[in-house]
Amino acid sequence: MKHYSVMLKEAIDGLDIKEDGIYVDCTLGYGGHSSEILKRLVAGYLYCFDQDEEAIKYSRERLKKIGKRFTIIQSNFVDLKKKLKEQKISKVDGILFDLGLSSPQIDDASRGFSFMQDAPLDMRMDKSNKLDAKKVVNTYSIEELTNIFFLYGEEKMSRMIAKKIVATRREKEINTTKELVKIIESAVGAKYFNKNHPERQIFQAIRIEVNSELTVLNEVLPDAIDLLNKGGRISVITFHSLEDRIVKQIFKKESEIDDLVKGLPEIPEKYLPKLKLINKKPILPSEEEIKENSRSKSAKLRIVERVWCDMANKQIKKQRKFLRLLRGERAIYFTLALILLAIPVCNVYTKAILSESNIALEEKKTEIRKQEDINDSLKMEISELASLDTIQNVATEYGLTYQNENIKVVTND
Ligand SMILES: C[S@@+](CC[C@H](N)C(=O)[O-])C[C@H]1O[C@@H](n2cnc3c(N)ncnc32)[C@H](O)[C@@H]1O
Repeated sequence: MKHYSVMLKEAIDGLDIKEDGIYVDCTLGYGGHSSEILKRLVAGYLYCFDQDEEAIKYSRERLKKIGKRFTIIQSNFVDLKKKLKEQKISKVDGILFDLGLSSPQIDDASRGFSFMQDAPLDMRMDKSNKLDAKKVVNTYSIEELTNIFFLYGEEKMSRMIAKKIVATRREKEINTTKELVKIIESAVGAKYFNKNHPERQIFQAIRIEVNSELTVLNEVLPDAIDLLNKGGRISVITFHSLEDRIVKQIFKKESEIDDLVKGLPEIPEKYLPKLKLINKKPILPSEEEIKENSRSKSAKLRIVERVWCDMANKQIKKQRKFLRLLRGERAIYFTLALILLAIPVCNVYTKAILSESNIALEEKKTEIRKQEDINDSLKMEISELASLDTIQNVATEYGLTYQNENIKVVTND
């Protein structure tokens, strides 16, 4: 049987397995991830959950070849806490979820999961489930069908398809996957059908409804977080955005402090974050893996670690110290920025003052120069006057007359 385990190494490494730890694989499937966990345990123990009888039968034999330290529990993982309690287990070191279906489940036409093979409408992971795809398709109202196609399949033509299903089943019960595919095609027209493949979305939506996939995921994650020992981890592999959104939101909420208590010096225990995100962004399969197993294309892996009260408070104190430091540094950077900005402004201002002083200086110099010119001419006049005076005196001494204007000396005769 060809079965690939998606992101096997990344998901198992993400659990950071201790050889004496207690681990849970909530989605045993065909045992790929469980085998890897079991191989790494020496004194530890592995509990495996699956609701699919056939998968359990196959995996039991596979795991037996590796070791004895495991127990398989045939149950929906929504009962994780209750079923572990029955095994006297209240804390574990790691939990794995590899959601959705295994390749053998999809490829087995009789299970009715695939729109590519003709089979009775079933789609139950747990064969004892009272709700199957045939019941959904033949009994749900137009509104109910539209809602599940829209919410779980994100299909634009949900209402048209729902109407067509209800109209068709008035004539004759819808029994097989092929009949359903034909109804979908006739509801949306060949052009839209061939371009958008709405049958893929509609089959996904019915499968999610039959197995309550989103509801159980929403319920089990808080229990899984509570079951973790300090340092214990959860790895979750999802295959569509609806599942990933739930995982992302729950992990985010449990790894942050509520805004209401954020400012308190000591955060009360019940408000402390329970988780640390190991990867902020989801881990995606490598190109090689996608090439080898195209079904891994839509997979996303998220990993978290349980933090404990004292650890959480320490972490918060560290974060706050860092923030304070950052704030201090910010003040320094702000001052530096101010200084840098001030330099050119000062330059311009100084230049303006200098040029004003220069102008004043030049004006003063011109004034002085003018004054000097006046002085010079005055001096000249004085010296001229002095020399005229002398001439006059001399002229008088010699009995001559001095005519100022022409500087002419004439005899008195
Ligand atoms: C993707 S497969 C797991 C493959 C497995 N990790 C491997 O390596 O072989 C998912 C398995 O989880 C099971 N499963 C899905 N939802 C479940 C649920 N709510 N409770 C129990 N088992 C579930 C399915 O029946 C299927 O066998």
